[in-house]
Amino acid sequence: MSPAGAPPGALITFEGLDGTGKSTQARRLARWLERQGVPVLHTRQPGGTAAGRRMRAIVLGHERRGVRLAPEAELLLMMADRAQHVSEVVRPALEEGRWVISERFADSSVAYQAWGLGIDAELVERLNRLATGGLVPDLTLWLDLPSGVLPGRRQRPRRDRIEGRDEGFFARVREGYLALAAAHPERIVRLDVTGSSRDRVEALVRTAVMERLGRRLQEVTGRTRPNHGGEEAGALS
Ligand SMILES: Nc1ncnc2c1ncn2[C@@H]1O[C@H](COP(=O)(O)OP(=O)(O)OP(=O)(O)O)[C@@H](O)[C@H]1O
Ligand SMILES: [Mg+2]
Repeated sequence: MSPAGAPPGALITFEGLDGTGKSTQARRLARWLERQGVPVLHTRQPGGTAAGRRMRAIVLGHERRGVRLAPEAELLLMMADRAQHVSEVVRPALEEGRWVISERFADSSVAYQAWGLGIDAELVERLNRLATGGLVPDLTLWLDLPSGVLPGRRQRPRRDRIEGRDEGFFARVREGYLALAAAHPERIVRLDVTGSSRDRVEALVRTAVMERLGRRLQEVTGRTRPNHGGEEAGALS
């Protein structure tokens, strides 16, 4: 229950291949919402809890280079991280009426472990239901980079265990995201970020949030800052 009749929280997730700007845009969206008086929690998977950070270190191989994991072990670690994250962080925040912004959520396991690694997608969906307790995002922003790279994107030489996989793996992951977006058009918005600056992507993100969750946003901002809507809309164009 949200406190004393406050509007309920919302869950917004960012998805997409590595380095497509999820962290950058999650941070910017969090700041934009906060400026409007929305209570926000910005978090990520894997690694949104103390236990999750240890699982993240194992699954991404940061602890020791060359760490080996069977695909099933990778999947179950991601699910363990998700279960802990939802119960310890996401659900309590939503119950307090916060808007939770998560870099990656259940869709990542469908894209990476089912489509990328070839684990049965139905099984992954079932494990996702267990890990999330059936919690589904209100809005998922898929930052898609069908071709090329982001302009001026910093090259990151140190690749983690998953980032180091071959092109075929990432092509399958993208296919997975395409399939998810086709199956859940009411929830997932694809944003083509090819050649787009950070500011341009941020504008796309804001437009999607206004289109999909504008009414709920107004319920919150109407209480906290009654005259703020027009000002922000002007800043968008
Ligand atoms: N639109 C953009 N144009 C140019 N560079 C960008 C853009 N968005 C992000 N970057 C830069 O690209 C790099 C990767 O961005 P970011 O860390 O936000 O991506 P990510 O999706 O969170 O990556 P990861 O999957 O590894 O967590 C960063 O150096 C960031 O500053
Ligand atoms: Mg990131």
